[in-house]
Amino acid sequence: MLSSWSVLGIIVAVIVAVAGFATVAALYRTRRAPGTQGTGTAFAPDQGRRQLVQRGMIALFVAALAGVVASAIDYVWPSVTGSTGGRFRVGSRQAVNSRIAAQGGKPYYDISGRFYVAEYPAQDLPAAKKAYPVPQLEAMELGLVALSQKCPHLGCTVKWCKSSGWFECPCHGSRYNAVGELERGPAPRGLDRFALREVAGEVEVDTSTTYLGPPPGTRTTDQPAKGPHCY
Ligand code: FES
Repeated sequence: MLSSWSVLGIIVAVIVAVAGFATVAALYRTRRAPGTQGTGTAFAPDQGRRQLVQRGMIALFVAALAGVVASAIDYVWPSVTGSTGGRFRVGSRQAVNSRIAAQGGKPYYDISGRFYVAEYPAQDLPAAKKAYPVPQLEAMELGLVALSQKCPHLGCTVKWCKSSGWFECPCHGSRYNAVGELERGPAPRGLDRFALREVAGEVEVDTSTTYLGPPPGTRTTDQPAKGPHCY
């Protein structure tokens, strides 16, 4: 399934192409030689104007093609870091934990940064230390993990499924446990994650530093689905 950006790019490209073609056709009709209006036969275009129109057509075609190509690239090779690079303070650790608890364990979603902050169980740290590189452990040692909302399969937005207690992708059914490790589906890895640290008593997520999600088979926590899946 195409991501929303891909669909938007294709729509814009098609609109540009259609509008450009209609404009050029209208220009041609209004530039016919005197005495030939309405006949649709004799045609005496000025050479310079004709070249100008031809170049305009080429430019419009290239613009439309660029839109389609950009959308295709986004489709087959969704960006890893997205366009949300920046640092986001989400409150103290206690505040984050309280928000998660208040929502029945649902990871906290930051709408500005478009990421989730989930709890990482302290008892699973020994397993995490065997599976994750050091930079990612800094967040886990704080009991948290910042996860991208972008499915690493083809870039759809994963949703939190309340009934299963997993992240699930509505596009092709990839499923991830609550710390973003791949459980099922065609995704090539777990959810990508962002640098998370504590700064001046607040949790800061840096979405300009992205770590690729763990490879399939990585399961450092025991988090089976709690109930029915959403997708
Ligand atoms: S985009 Fe295909 S499973 Fe998520």
